[in-house]
Amino acid sequence: MCGIVGYLGPREAYPIIIEGLKRLEYRGYDSAGIALFDGNDLKVSKTKGKVADLEARSEKEITKHGSVGIGHTRWATHGVPNDVNSHPHISNSGELVIIHNGIIENYESLKKELISRGYTFQSDTDTEVLVNLIEDVKKQEKVKLGKAVQIALNQVIGAYAIAVFDKNKPEEIVIARLGSPLAIGIGEDEFFIASDASPFLEYTKDAIYLEDEEMAIIRFHKGIKIRKIKDDSLVDPYIQKLQLNLEEIEKSGYDHFMLKEIHEQPKAITDTYRGRLLRHEAIIKMAGVEDNMKKFLNADRIIIVACGTSWHAGLVAEYIFEDLARVPVEVEYASEFRYRNPIITEKDVLIAISQSGETADTLAAIKLAKSKGAFVFGVCNVVGSSIARETDAGAYTHAGPEIGVASTKAFTTQITVLTLMALRLARAKGAISSSDFRNHLLELEMIPKKVEESLKSEAHIKMIADAYKDSHNCLYLGRGFNFPVALEGALKLKEISYIHAEGYPAAEMKHGPIALIDENMPVIVIATKKGHYEKVVSNIQEIKSRKGKIIGIVTQGDVQVKELADHVIEIPETLESLSPLLTTIPLQLLSYHIAVMLGKNVDQPRNLAKSVTVE
Ligand code: G6P
Repeated sequence: MCGIVGYLGPREAYPIIIEGLKRLEYRGYDSAGIALFDGNDLKVSKTKGKVADLEARSEKEITKHGSVGIGHTRWATHGVPNDVNSHPHISNSGELVIIHNGIIENYESLKKELISRGYTFQSDTDTEVLVNLIEDVKKQEKVKLGKAVQIALNQVIGAYAIAVFDKNKPEEIVIARLGSPLAIGIGEDEFFIASDASPFLEYTKDAIYLEDEEMAIIRFHKGIKIRKIKDDSLVDPYIQKLQLNLEEIEKSGYDHFMLKEIHEQPKAITDTYRGRLLRHEAIIKMAGVEDNMKKFLNADRIIIVACGTSWHAGLVAEYIFEDLARVPVEVEYASEFRYRNPIITEKDVLIAISQSGETADTLAAIKLAKSKGAFVFGVCNVVGSSIARETDAGAYTHAGPEIGVASTKAFTTQITVLTLMALRLARAKGAISSSDFRNHLLELEMIPKKVEESLKSEAHIKMIADAYKDSHNCLYLGRGFNFPVALEGALKLKEISYIHAEGYPAAEMKHGPIALIDENMPVIVIATKKGHYEKVVSNIQEIKSRKGKIIGIVTQGDVQVKELADHVIEIPETLESLSPLLTTIPLQLLSYHIAVMLGKNVDQPRNLAKSVTVE
């Protein structure tokens, strides 16, 4: 949803901004731009395309000198991706320059008003309206830039993270946030601004994360002042020490981040249960759950809200919580939940799942549930993210940075956290026997090793990918705990290869999708030993008799499905409730290799963005 980078200090801003934008390209990549103050004047270069296109263009267009600058990588909301709609945007006088992540919802009425006062617009964006609104306020009210930004933002409805400066006062950058993340990196007499900390990790580990409705005036040699946008009150800056390392956000020899992240899963899952799963003591320790056990135990039900892949993790969790902890669970798309006047009471526990911790709909669902008195628990990956801060309590997934747009290790670590929670709760409720509990701990502890083993099928999966890469459609079937995995498998394929794919509960196939099956339809069936195996085998037979091509995800040593299927991919045996952690792996690899063979941009699929901070 657009990436923002800025620099103010003694160094050359250009390379810092360009490198920073490349790290933020997961947020959007349909156009990019940069504005630098070169000591005399403002230099702007922007283009449709990726940051690499911007580099090529700015090479010819601008001098690239200057120690003050802002840059942007865009995911279009208002106006098609083209050069003119790219950020930065400049005000009519040519003095103010802005970058923006978010949506100004009332931009049309503001634009009309500005047009009536003689302002003209080059682009179709809401952002160009905002920069001219700031300029108008500055002139009308005869105030400094910071004040003008504040007054203008109080007229705005919508979401934003912005950075703006005045070419006549280039020693100052003003930034503000509402609904879109914004971090300030603090070096020695230098400042970095970014949508997340990755652009400034090699320069400083000290960061301030702006809260919603806060703005900061950053001045060279003078430091930072943070204020509340609404009431102008001063805020004491809280400087955090970042734990993140540069290696974690690099590809480390892999062709793509997605592949790296698929292979990181054994470690990510281990990191996620480390210190929580204490097998020898036969306990699970989770402070967020422990401290709020009463809320969980008294809950009439658990409502899970999430979007995309996180929603699929929520669906897996529904099966796990109901099976182990015997508590009713409802899983909702955050975007539907927030707008359908849901019935929420103080006896509800809402679990919000989000890799980024910034998804706008999930955040809004949390706020709604809180306003009705529900207890809200967050399962996030990004430490300090908006959702992590907004929830009453939570548990991080410790997957490390996930950069590939198609989510992989976030999914399996979310399931890991949710499984730990369900087991902890099951124990507290007495819903699970002590031997069953111990067995679950043992099996969960072995999952990383089994994921490693599953990853060894990669060469075989590559051959299957080659055989089916030219398919136009694909069906994914699974039952029980593995029905959500079928949905996730189909989503992975759609996202990165643009092949149409659908996930279905295997038994539902005969209520519609079976009509699609012919010799050109590959059907990926999750048919592990436990979990309605015989019934799934019957489904496979139904597909076979209609000449569909069958790729079975089976338990090691399987005989029955092997005889029927065109291909099988084996995974190690585990408990049924933990099987999604393994069945997911071959589906991720299959999608990845098909997309690579088709020449698609795996890490940055078209039209998508990793962090969706608009509704
Ligand atoms: C986007 C991403 C998905 C992700 C979804 C929810 O659509 O492309 O990979 O699953 O947002 O994101 P969250 O950060 O809330 O898990």
